[in-house]
Amino acid sequence: MSKIHSVIAAIALAGTSSAVLSQALPTTAPAPADNPTTPQKVALGKMLFHDPRLSSSGTVSCASCHNTMLGGEDNRAGSVGVEAQVGGRSAPTVWNAAFNKVQFWDGRAASLEEQAAGPVTNPIEMGMKSWNDVVSRLETIEGYQIAFKKAFGTETISKDNATKAIAAYERTLITPNSPYDKYVKGDKKALTEQQVRGMNLAVEIGCTGCHSGPAFNGPGTFQKFPINYNGYLEAQYDFKKDTGLAEVTGKKEDEHLWKVPTLRNIALTAPYFHNGKIKTLDKAVKLMAKMQLDKNLSKEEISDIVAFLDALTGEFPKQEMPTLPPTTGTTFNK
Ligand code: HEC
Ligand code: HEC
Repeated sequence: MSKIHSVIAAIALAGTSSAVLSQALPTTAPAPADNPTTPQKVALGKMLFHDPRLSSSGTVSCASCHNTMLGGEDNRAGSVGVEAQVGGRSAPTVWNAAFNKVQFWDGRAASLEEQAAGPVTNPIEMGMKSWNDVVSRLETIEGYQIAFKKAFGTETISKDNATKAIAAYERTLITPNSPYDKYVKGDKKALTEQQVRGMNLAVEIGCTGCHSGPAFNGPGTFQKFPINYNGYLEAQYDFKKDTGLAEVTGKKEDEHLWKVPTLRNIALTAPYFHNGKIKTLDKAVKLMAKMQLDKNLSKEEISDIVAFLDALTGEFPKQEMPTLPPTTGTTFNK
């Protein structure tokens, strides 16, 4: 691109700042045609999500690493699975995951349904040998037979139905009405002056070039991370060790490509980045500007952007913990 063109592009970007940031978070998430969201499915999915009997040891549920009473993750760098094993990536939040175009840091799952099949048989997460074992276990619990019948019209318990129910529940995990949402809907007092400054700066310097749209997670395209990087930074943060999408595809051109994560509720989900190496939001913003945009932000500019990111914390719908159907007269892993 010629210099003139890039200036024009920059002006165009600045000029559209209000257009770029004008989207409130939708209050419902779209469901795929073969898995419409119903209250019965959501109720079943909520039980499965919170049931540690889906793990080999009976100690780990989805909620162990994705705490729905908090920010939807575990505030740890590496999550703890069965037999106290610790994984190499930080758990992303399940709040608003329904608005991700792809799931996992490396985007290897195309839907919430596909994602939900993974952790249960992952040896360091929930450790079940196979989905057949999970199904056999659920079949011994009468309450689940009833709940599957209510949700799917059939007592047949299957991996397909279990993951559909979990995904249906996750589509209800939406946090609307953040100060930012109120602002874009017309309540200009919902953001402080500092937050407005931070918002404009984030648009101007290009954060929203990648973190675009109502969930600030982009259109689903993969982005390189880190871009401007050196040995000094690597020695501190280890961001290059994990090659992202290339770990799945094995292709050189996919090295260090990652899904753009949502910035919704980002103030609640430290530590940051795929390996959870960064403990504070200030530091995450400073590093993002440096690594992704080659910009050195001042202390004030960092504070302004962090203040804006604070305004992306939404309202969390009250979660009532489900009563799980009991295993009666025997142990769950007989
Ligand atoms: C031991 C901890 C642990 C357990 C248990 C666990 N997860 Fe996760 N979850 C993670 C980690 C770590 C990642 C990121 C892994 C990656 O990107 O490779 C993740 C990723 C996800 C994502 C993708 C979110 C995004 O923004 O990309 C969803 C959705 C999710 N998990 C839902 C679930 C569900 C549903 C269950 C139960 C069936 C579950 N998880 C069980 C740790 C866990
Ligand atoms: C070129 C695309 C791109 C640009 C520009 C960009 N980001 Fe990111 N951002 C990403 C990607 C990709 C990740 C995930 C990195 C990882 O951990 O693998 C990310 C991660 C983050 C995280 C951590 C998310 C989490 O859940 O841990 C924050 C916070 C963040 N970005 C804020 C910003 C801010 C603020 C700016 C502007 C200063 C910015 N980003 C600019 C692509 C971008």
